[in-house]
Amino acid sequence: MTRARLDRRPDEVAAMFDGVAKRYDLMNRVMTFGLESRWRREAMETVDPQPGMTILDLAAGTAVSSVVLASAGARVVAADFSLGMLEQGRKYGNVVSLVAGDALRLPFADESFDVVTISFGLRNVADVDAALGEMLRVTKPGGRLVICETSQPARPILRFGNRTWLRMLPTVASRFSSNPAAYRYLTESMLTWPDGDTLGRRIAESGWGGVQWRGLTFGVVALHRATRP
Ligand SMILES: C[S@@+](CC[C@H](N)C(=O)[O-])C[C@H]1O[C@@H](n2cnc3c(N)ncnc32)[C@H](O)[C@@H]1O
Repeated sequence: MTRARLDRRPDEVAAMFDGVAKRYDLMNRVMTFGLESRWRREAMETVDPQPGMTILDLAAGTAVSSVVLASAGARVVAADFSLGMLEQGRKYGNVVSLVAGDALRLPFADESFDVVTISFGLRNVADVDAALGEMLRVTKPGGRLVICETSQPARPILRFGNRTWLRMLPTVASRFSSNPAAYRYLTESMLTWPDGDTLGRRIAESGWGGVQWRGLTFGVVALHRATRP
C-alpha cells in the first residue's frame, strides 16, 4: 500500500494521492461529516473571486475548490503534481485550467496571479517555507494569499477531542478507502501540523504582509490570509 512518510518526499506524496484520487472527494465528505463544504465556502468568500481575476488554486487536487471559484467568473488555474488527482478534475470540462506543477517550482512567471489559494495542500508539501516563497513570487504586488488548512483547536478539551478523532481516521478510512495506509499518513501530518499563530508567523517570515487568521469549526481548520506588499 502506498503512503508517504512525514519527510513528504514528492514522489511518495504524489503517488499516494494518485492512489486515493478516485474516492478522494467521497472520503473527504465522510471523514469531515460534510463540514468540508462549509470550510470551502468560507475559503471562497475570503478569496472573493470576481470576474476578470486570475486565481491560482495550488495543490488543487481534484479541482473541487477551483470549480467553485470559477463559478464566480474568475479565471482559475488548478495546479497539482498528482496527475491522478488532476485527472478527476477533468469531469468539470474546461471550467478551470488543469496544470501539472510542483508547489516548490511553480511553472508560472513572476506576478501572474491576483490571488493564490491553497486548501489542505500546504501541510503536504516537503518545504513549507519554499512553497510560501513561490506563492509570493507568482502573486502580483497587492495580490492576496488565502490558505485553508487543518489546525489545532486552542481549548484543551477540543484539542483532545480533535486529536482522538484524527487517531481514529485510519480505522474509519479502512472501510471506505482503496488505500487506508494513506490515511495513516494524513493523521500523522495533521497531528504534527502547527497551530494558527505559529503558521501565521511563518507566513509573515516568508515575506507576506498583513497576515490574519481565524479558526473554523472550533479551530479544527484555520483560514489564513495575507497580502503581497
Ligand atoms: C489533501 S489534498 C488537497 C486537495 C484539494 N486542494 C482539496 O481541497 O481537496 C493535497 C494535495 O496537495 C498536492 N500536493 C502536495 N504537495 C504538492 C506539491 N509540492 N506540489 C503540488 N501539489 C502538491 C497533492 O498531490 C494533493 O492533491
